[in-house]
Amino acid sequence: MRGARSFHAQRYARGAIFFHWMIALLVLVNLWIGLVGGSMGVHKAVGITVLVLTAGRIVWRIANPPPPLPAYVAGWERLAATWTHRLFYLLLIVLPLSGWAMVSGAKRYPLDWFGLFPIPYLPIPPAVAGVGHEAHELLGLLMAGLVALHVGAALRHRFLLRDGIVSRILPSGRRTR
Ligand code: HEM
Ligand code: HEM
Repeated sequence: MRGARSFHAQRYARGAIFFHWMIALLVLVNLWIGLVGGSMGVHKAVGITVLVLTAGRIVWRIANPPPPLPAYVAGWERLAATWTHRLFYLLLIVLPLSGWAMVSGAKRYPLDWFGLFPIPYLPIPPAVAGVGHEAHELLGLLMAGLVALHVGAALRHRFLLRDGIVSRILPSGRRTR
C-alpha cells in the first residue's frame, strides 16, 4: 500500500551515518580531481583513505546491520537499492585498489599520505599496472554513473515520494514530514 507513508522510520546508526558521509565527501572530491582536475597527490591520498575507511565500514556493517526498508517500498525498488549498494561497496574497494596498482607499477612518483608518511607500493609487475590504469578509468566512470543514479533516487524520495527514506541517513535526524 503506497498511501501509508507515515511510518516511524528506523534510522541508520551513528556509525553508518559517519562512514556514509565521510566516504561520500571523499569520493566526490576524487571524482572531481579525476574528471575535472586538481592535485594528484591529494587524489591518491584521498583514494587510499577511502579504501581504509571502506574496509572499516564493511566490518562495522557486519556487526551493525542497516535498518530494514519500510514495508511499502516496492520489490523492484528494494532490488535496485540492494544491488546499487552492493556495487558501491565493490567499487569502493576495487577502484582505489586499481589506482594503487597503476601507480605501483609505474613507480613514477613517490606515494605518501598528504606528505605525512609514505605509502608503500603494491608488489605489482609493470604489466599489471597497465591493466590497473584501464580498470581505473572504467571503474571511475562507473562510480560517477552510480553516484548520479543514487543521488537521483535520493532526490526522488525527498521531493517526489516525500517519504522518510533520506532522513534515515541524515546526521540531524530531520524528518521530511
Ligand atoms: C557520493 C558518494 C556516495 C556513495 C559512495 C554512497 C553510498 C551509499 C551506500 C553504500 C549506501 C548503503 C548503506 C548501507 O545500507 O550499507 C547508501 C545509502 C544511502 N545514501 Fe548514499 N552514497 C553517496 C552519496 C549520497 C548522497 C550525495 C546522498 C543524498 C543526496 C545519498 C543518500 C543516501 C541515502 C538516503 C541512503 C539510505 C538508503 C536507505 O535508507 O536504504 N548518498 N549510500
Ligand atoms: C575513491 C577513490 C577514487 C576515485 C573515485 C577515483 C577516480 C578517478 C577518476 C574518475 C579518474 C579519471 C579517469 C579518466 O582518465 O577518465 C582518476 C584518475 C587517476 N587516479 Fe583515481 N580514483 C580513486 C582512487 C585512486 C587511488 C587510490 C589512486 C592511487 C593511489 C589513484 C590514482 C589515479 C591516477 C594516477 C589517475 C590519472 C590516470 C591517468 O593518467 O589518466 N586514484 N581517478
